[in-house]
Amino acid sequence: MAELSFSEKKVLLAIKELGAGASIQQIREKAGLEKVEEASSAASWLQTKGLVQISEKITKFISLGAEGKAFYENGLPERRALLLVSNGGKTMKDLSDEMKGETQIALGWLKRKGWVVLGKELVLTDAGKRAISEAGADEWTIEKLSEGPAEASALDANVIALLKSRQNVIEEKETVERTYSLTAEGKKLASSGLDMKEQVSQLTPELIQSGKWREVELRKYDVNTFAPAVYPGKSHPLRQTIDEIREIFLQMGFTEIDGDFVESAFWDMDVLFVPQDHPAREMQDTFYLSNPKAMPVDDDLLVKKVKKIHETGGNTGSIGWGGTWSKEKAQRGMLRTHTTVETIRHLAQHAEPPVKAFMIGKVFRREAIDFKHLAEFHQIEGIVMEKKASLKMLLGMIREFYSRMGFKDVRFRPGYFPYTEPSMEIEVMLNGKWMELGGSGIFRPEVVAPFKIRYPVLAWGMGLERLAMLRLGLSDIRDLYISDMDWLRKAPIR
Ligand code: PHE
Repeated sequence: MAELSFSEKKVLLAIKELGAGASIQQIREKAGLEKVEEASSAASWLQTKGLVQISEKITKFISLGAEGKAFYENGLPERRALLLVSNGGKTMKDLSDEMKGETQIALGWLKRKGWVVLGKELVLTDAGKRAISEAGADEWTIEKLSEGPAEASALDANVIALLKSRQNVIEEKETVERTYSLTAEGKKLASSGLDMKEQVSQLTPELIQSGKWREVELRKYDVNTFAPAVYPGKSHPLRQTIDEIREIFLQMGFTEIDGDFVESAFWDMDVLFVPQDHPAREMQDTFYLSNPKAMPVDDDLLVKKVKKIHETGGNTGSIGWGGTWSKEKAQRGMLRTHTTVETIRHLAQHAEPPVKAFMIGKVFRREAIDFKHLAEFHQIEGIVMEKKASLKMLLGMIREFYSRMGFKDVRFRPGYFPYTEPSMEIEVMLNGKWMELGGSGIFRPEVVAPFKIRYPVLAWGMGLERLAMLRLGLSDIRDLYISDMDWLRKAPIR
């Protein structure tokens, strides 16, 4: 009962008193409402709530059109022609002199009604003679309609059809008459004794200032009533996830960095101590470019250091990969395969501690696309370089990040990357299953040596799309990029 408004209650009781079949005007009056709209809106809410039944009676009305009114004033053209012919000795020419523009119509109907025989002279038939003193059903109907619209059901359908076959003689209109009755449930409620205290649905300054709010009853919200869904513009769920992640890292004191999609193998791999014969460097794993085919590395000193580290380990304590390092191979242009390329570039320019940087960026790999692999995806990359940086700190930070994203179960497994030692795979629990989300570790001496970095560098790179999938409840990573309108509309704003 709480969910009936004051006017709904009034309308309910009014219908109860009026009995089945009440009209909205009667209801408005009985309920003491000012406007019909108020009564009908209350009644239709009562219908939605199953308390009132509304029946509709559709009535068709016929009235005279412009031509019909002229026919009423002047008589039908065929009648005027009939009178002329009845004087005797009239030819076709006499008829057209008299009827002018209406001659064709008059002739057509004279024939159709069988009033006249056409010859040299026009001669009345028996029916024509009778018609002189006897108006036809069509004429009677026009006469009747001249008094005002009539219900179609009270008129002869054949005559109406005949009149309708002439343009603009009659017009048809439909009216819908609604009558209101209580349903069984409505009757029960109406007899149960409703609390008729006035309700207000909106608290106004007047109510507060006058103190009247004490007397009125504030209408309760009915959270179960139907309301149309609203789909405002909003950012894509993946974009929302990116913004949220960015917010978390900024709050954790990280600086955001950026970089280009097109990189040289030198920065994407060689600087990171990825051996030149590593399988990930093969054509089938990496998108190499024909333009730019080569991206020259200007820093000769750096090239020399990297070459030495790859071949012999230099003075890093490593023995390197052996063999001969090729500058040509390193200079090949490619689409970056991971965002680690941008953190090492950042580090190359910021060797002074502390460094805390992150980025969320797109990377490219020649992957076969399936429910959990894309050829273009984003990584969430980060590094921390400071005096006391430690493995424990790295694990703590990653745990903290995922926990802020709503994932409490995180685990690390030993992993392998050519640029970190130790290396760890990051996994997150979802629905009882561990899902691999990224890698992490501490940069090896072979990576940091050329840049004179004195403190440990903690590094990680994690997949964005897989994380978004988990958060958005998708089971296929491709759904993120399909832009299904229904899914987009219903996606909540976070
Ligand atoms: N670059 C690695 C990848 O793409 C992730 C990683 C980043 C691992 C930094 C260790 C350190 O999977």
